Parts: sequence; structure tokens; C-alpha cells
Amino acid sequence: MLRSAKLADPSMQRVRRRTVHWRCLGPSTLVAVLALVVLSPSARTASLTPEQTLGQKLFFDTSLSNPGGQACGSCHSPSAFFTDPSHGPTSPGVVPGLFGSRNAPTVLYSALTPPFHFDTAEQTYIGGQFLDGRASSLEDQAKLPFLNPVEMANPDKASVIAKLRSGPNATLFRSVFGATLLDDVDQAYDLLAQAIANYERAGVLQPFSSKYDAWLVGKATLTPQELAGLHVYEDPAKGNCAACHPSTTPSGSRAGALFTDRTYDNIGVPKNPDNPIYTQPAEFNPFGADFVDIGLGATTGQSTEDGAFKVPTLRDIAMTGPFMHNGYFTTLSQVVDFYNTRDVKPACANPATSASDAELLGCWPAPEVLDNENLEELGNLGLSPDDVDNLLAFLDTLTDGFFDPAVVAVEPAGILVFGLGLTGLGLRRLRRRYSSDAGLAATGS
Ligand code: HEC
Ligand code: HEC
Repeated sequence: MLRSAKLADPSMQRVRRRTVHWRCLGPSTLVAVLALVVLSPSARTASLTPEQTLGQKLFFDTSLSNPGGQACGSCHSPSAFFTDPSHGPTSPGVVPGLFGSRNAPTVLYSALTPPFHFDTAEQTYIGGQFLDGRASSLEDQAKLPFLNPVEMANPDKASVIAKLRSGPNATLFRSVFGATLLDDVDQAYDLLAQAIANYERAGVLQPFSSKYDAWLVGKATLTPQELAGLHVYEDPAKGNCAACHPSTTPSGSRAGALFTDRTYDNIGVPKNPDNPIYTQPAEFNPFGADFVDIGLGATTGQSTEDGAFKVPTLRDIAMTGPFMHNGYFTTLSQVVDFYNTRDVKPACANPATSASDAELLGCWPAPEVLDNENLEELGNLGLSPDDVDNLLAFLDTLTDGFFDPAVVAVEPAGILVFGLGLTGLGLRRLRRRYSSDAGLAATGS
């Protein structure tokens, strides 16, 4: 966490009082319909510049892998809030049988991550793309998956650009960047990354359209349980989550909070025995079952950073499991139990115990990296079962697609008609998610 964040004192009283004056959005059915509107393909293209439209097409262009069939969007799909819709611990590459070592994070809100740097005032690393910050910018990041042998697997830039020249987006590329710019491999490769990065910067990929955001602008009311959960989340004597996943911006505003300070920490996540990395060919993992992911330590070359990973955003967290750099936890209740009891339960006899087995056995395996574990801010929170339930209810309010922040006056009839006309996206997923409390199934969409 940031040391200065320790000074923050979330005033729950103020929050509670404010909600009394805020009006409710209306019938809960609308909630589900709005989810479809906000994350729908039509909403996603509405406000894109020509370069961003190109970037969007390239992000989903499956002709740019070797062999064809995989795009950025394969592992960062809108249907899974821009994570891997297979929801495995790590993602399969385009070459059958090959897997990466890390769980695919969401691309939503990545554009708001500062460049990788060492903050001298805070004495900590902040920002950067990837869980270990090894790409400073979105452009640097976007150049890597095309050439990664366990992802899109092209041998070199020239073969990516050759595919782009003969692919479905060549004409649009030339019309956005100029007729000749596909001819020079290096220049074209830079522009490919630039277009994708600028798509990732589009407002539609930083939606701020959760129930929490709706509450902040008076378009929704948090239930007493969700408010109690927010309190658990923020109270340093309870969940203390906001110490690293702040619920305010650096200037103290709740609006626009990213629920991460983009710092790095080793919170002691165990090895995930279900991570396919351990059985990958020696070319990709020479260590076999002894593989250890040292995270930030590999980026900085400092052993004091071994085991530290970037604090992820908790926006959309209920939809983006499994969790942590290696997908160790499959449910949020496992995650919260880990924060609550990491230092209370005994160590599992077998260090390769899955999270669900650990829950059954009442133990936690040793951390993947023992050194540098954060023993101060988590591990023995003393949360009651009610605290835990409330916290989980609050985390559910961070799922985008609850409302459309661009819609100033909510016109129920109009939204319903528009919403029912939409197709595509992970509607089935959203439907499953919302159907119980929002009656979406009844709309028959
Ligand atoms: C095979 C699955 C896969 C593909 C294909 C893929 N990614 Fe990723 N992406 C990942 C994984 C896994 C990570 C985390 C890797 C790490 O930290 O080392 C990641 C990380 C990222 C991040 C950093 C997010 C953060 O919070 O730090 C961005 C941005 C991103 N990918 C964008 C892209 C773009 C753009 C493409 C296409 C050019 C792409 N990805 C292709 C799996 C994939
Ligand atoms: C000391 C800083 C710190 C505190 C305090 C903290 N977290 Fe985290 N959190 C992290 C880091 C770092 C990661 C990523 C760790 C990894 O991947 O190994 C993480 C990951 C997570 C994830 C998984 C996100 C994903 O996309 O996989 C969830 C969920 C989460 N935290 C929830 C919470 C909750 C709830 C609390 C309060 C009970 C909390 N965190 C307190 C630093 C912190």
C-alpha cells in the first residue's frame, strides 16, 4: 500500500447520511437491461475515433496469430469483462497444449495505470502493465502477445505485418494511417500497437457503470448489507482492503476510484497445483514442478521484490475469476477467507493443496514465495461470518453494466425497448448473474 494512504480516514457516517437523500433507480428489471445496454457492442463502438475503431478490430482480429484463431480478445473477452472466458487458472496459447503461467487480468481500466516507476516519496514501485510491471505502457504491452510463443506465437514482427496486410483490416489500417504505412514492418508494428492501445484508452473500456458508481450519483441505493460491507472493506481495523485497493482516488474522491493503488505486494498466495505451467515443455518451464513465479523481482532484479505482484483493480471482480496471479482461488469467498485467516489456520501438510481442499481441511498451504510476505496488513483480520458476507455483498456492487452513466434522465420505457433489441456479448453470463434478483429471464431476451 501507499504509506500516505494510511492517513485516509473513510468517514462512513458521511456516506450513510448521504444515501438517505439519494433516490432509487427503479424496478430491478431495468438493472439487468441496462447491463446489456452499457456493455453491448453498439455502446462499445458509439464513441470510438477512427483509430480506436481500427484498434478494436485489431484487438479482436483472429487472423494475426500463428496459426490463426487467437486474438487479444480471446483472452480478454467482453463476455468475461475482458478476462479469459474459459476461466481457467491460465490461458491456452494458439499452439495446442501450450499455456502461460499467469491468470489473464482484465483490460478494463488498464489505461488508467500510470507508467512503471519507482516512487521515491513512497519508496515503492507503482504502475506498469502486466502483473510484474514489465511493460511500461499499453503500447509496449500490445507488442508482446503477438510474438509470445505461448500466446499468439508469431516468429517475428514481419510475419505479423504480413498477416495484417492480407487480413480483413488492411484497408481500414491504410485509410486510418495512410496508404504506404503498412509497407515498413517496424513502422506498421508500432502503429498496430498504437491503435490497440488507443482502443484500450477509449471511455468504453473504463465504464464506471457499476451499482457503486450509480450509488455515487444518486441513481441507486446500496442495501444495508452492501453499506455494511463497504464499511468492512474500508475500516483499517476490519477488512483493511482499501489500504491497497483504495475506494477513493488519490485526491480523496469516491467517484473514479479504481480499487487499486497499482503498487506491488507479496500477500502470500500459495502455489496453484492446477496451474498448467508445471507440466509445460522444458523449453518454456525448465523448472518443472519447482517453478516459482517471483513476480516484480524478475522485473527489477531485486530479491526484495520477489513474490510481489501488482495490486489488481477490484472493479468487476465478481465476474473475473479465478483470482490472483496464478488463479489459485476460484471463489471470492475463498479469497476473503484467505485474507481473514491466512495466519490463523495451520499450514497444510501438502504445500500443493488446492484452495477448495484447503477450505475443507481447514489449513492454508505455504506461500509460493516465502520472502517479503506482507505480514502487517492482512492474514488475521478477525472478521465475523456476517462481516464476510457483507464484504462479499459489497464486492458484488463493483460489477459494471449496472447503469449507463451517460444517460442523464432514466426513461424506463425507452431503455427497455432499446435493451430488448440488443444481442451478442456475454448476455448469457450476465443473465445468469442477474436473473435471480433482476428478473431478466422474464424478459425472454
Ligand atoms: C493467450 C492469452 C492472451 C492473449 C492472446 C493476450 N493476452 Fe493480454 N494478458 C494475458 C495474461 C496471462 C496477462 C498477464 C501476464 C503477465 O502478467 O505476465 C495479460 C496481460 C495483459 C495486459 C496488462 C493488464 C494489467 O492489468 O497489467 C494488457 C493491457 C493486455 N494483456 C492486453 C492484451 C493485448 C492488447 C493483446 C493482443 C495484442 C493480448 N493482451 C493478448 C493473456 C493474454
Ligand atoms: C497489502 C495490500 C493488500 C491488501 C490489504 C488487500 N489486498 Fe487484495 N490484493 C493485493 C495484491 C498484491 C493482489 C495480487 C496478488 C497476487 O496476484 O499474487 C491482490 C489481489 C486481490 C484479489 C484478486 C484479484 C484478481 O483479479 O485476481 C482480490 C479479490 C482481492 N485482492 C480482494 C481483497 C480484499 C477483499 C481485501 C480486504 C479483505 C484485500 N484484497 C486486501 C493486495 C492487497
